[in-house]
Amino acid sequence: MAAINLNVNGKTVTVDVDPATPVLWVLRDHLNLVGTKFGCGMAQCGACTIHLNGNAVRSCTLPVSAVKNNAIVTIEGISETGDHPLQQAWEELDVSQCGYCQAGQIMSAASLLKRNPKPTDKDIDNAMSGNICRCGTHVRIRKAIHLAAK
Ligand code: FES
Repeated sequence: MAAINLNVNGKTVTVDVDPATPVLWVLRDHLNLVGTKFGCGMAQCGACTIHLNGNAVRSCTLPVSAVKNNAIVTIEGISETGDHPLQQAWEELDVSQCGYCQAGQIMSAASLLKRNPKPTDKDIDNAMSGNICRCGTHVRIRKAIHLAAK
């Protein structure tokens, strides 16, 4: 166990954990930020996507010791009031079906729009290809990203 300082959603927090613990479990089990989901645990599905210094990363395979004092943003921190343009577009277009993967989808989409405010279909498909949705909402996700980019 070790005391590790983290910057999560703009706040400094200290957690006492095994340094090898994946960030996903620190967020969920120690900080009660349960919007970030566990899917595969192997950096393959995207359900656990967060932002690390503005970039979308998989939190399920990222040891907490590697992110000390870096800026972590989770789905809870993307907008204080839940009205990020992507969240509004998701709602307007009824993107979610079961919803499980959608926080990860929005985090990847938000990272894309920061880098590329007007992405093409191809840009979106490339950026979102690591986020799997078993309900098949990818077409609505693409539409919602275009809507948020307007
Ligand atoms: Fe991390 Fe699947 S749970 S990528």
